[in-house]
Amino acid sequence: MAKRGILVTGGCGFIGSHLVDRLILDGHDVRVYDILEPQVHGKKKPKYLNKNAEYIYGDIRNTRKLKKALAGIEVVYHDASQVGVGQSMYEIGKYVSHNSYGTAVLLELLISCRNRVKKLVVASSMSLYGEGGYKCPSCGIVYPRLRNEAQLLSKKWEMQCPDCQKDLLPIPTSEDKPLFPTSIYATTKRCQEEMCLEVGIAYKIPTVALRYFNVYGPRQSLNNPYTGVGAIFLSRIKNNNPPLIFEDGRQTRDFIYVSDIVEANILAMEKKEANYSVFNVGTGEPHSIFDIAQTIINITRRDLKPRILNKFRAGDIRHCYADITKIQNKLNFKPAVSFEEGMKRLIAWSSHEAARDLSSKAQKELIKRGLAE
Ligand code: UD1
Repeated sequence: MAKRGILVTGGCGFIGSHLVDRLILDGHDVRVYDILEPQVHGKKKPKYLNKNAEYIYGDIRNTRKLKKALAGIEVVYHDASQVGVGQSMYEIGKYVSHNSYGTAVLLELLISCRNRVKKLVVASSMSLYGEGGYKCPSCGIVYPRLRNEAQLLSKKWEMQCPDCQKDLLPIPTSEDKPLFPTSIYATTKRCQEEMCLEVGIAYKIPTVALRYFNVYGPRQSLNNPYTGVGAIFLSRIKNNNPPLIFEDGRQTRDFIYVSDIVEANILAMEKKEANYSVFNVGTGEPHSIFDIAQTIINITRRDLKPRILNKFRAGDIRHCYADITKIQNKLNFKPAVSFEEGMKRLIAWSSHEAARDLSSKAQKELIKRGLAE
């Protein structure tokens, strides 16, 4: 494998830092550009930062600094983003500015060094889909929008066919499903994905967008209540609080372990079959939210029971799991870490980590704004 000069934006974060470790291991020269967001990292630099990478700390919107970070670079992984879905619904300007405008700054700079840059890989998200794919027993495949408030208030949690109102069966979600983002976060991720591909195609910078499903693993922030459900549950359980489950707990997601996400990123860089394309990166297997809570309780051996709230959070989808046929066929990707094994690794790592459970505070923020019951 040829040695390359690689920039990872957001390389101090959960996913970015694992990618940096792997790139260093593979012998590349790696530079990280990161804002060290206090909501994620607290006041200190994370202790896991790889000493063999070069670090430039700055805001993605700072053209002058970002330009310096791009000097000599051949491959760019764009993983810098503000990531709280709920929070994006009230800190709208911040999310649009960092995620959308920040990507615009990066792209303008990339145009000026397009002869040198051989690949741009952008971290996209399953959130672009909104609800996943479904099948109606009478009407066939349908792509419903979010459940309306009347349905949610009557606590009918399953999706219903928009045409005949029968209960729907979730099916794997493929890349060509129409995109219905349901949060400002999701809209900014769509913007990132589409802007990168548009500019990549126009200026012949081979670009790949990876739509991550629900990623979990070591280094996930246990103090950020705006992060994904796995880390929130783990943080509550470590503090001897029962996990709080919205709806009935039977909603499902596709949980993918972070090292599998890293592998997909390596394939996206190495393979030209990836160029100018979008790929789902998931396992293809749905797991219920109740299952997540129970699995963490079982592995940690705590005497706790998940608390099913039978309440909803505005904007939540019911089911979404990946159809991974495209990435399997085109890039030969295969998730390697099972759900049970991944959860064990996450929990083993967390036993040495402090976890401040701020989920009740975050929930109050949402309720105050009418974004949760
Ligand atoms: C959303 C984004 C996804 C992002 C992820 C983490 C969408 C469609 N997807 O995913 O891109 O990576 O957030 O930021 O916007 N839940 C509980 N109790 C809790 C917390 C969550 O029951 O304390 C439930 C939620 O109601 C939901 C499920 O767990 O049904 C998953 O929630 P979450 O982890 O926030 O992620 P997604 O909504 O799947």
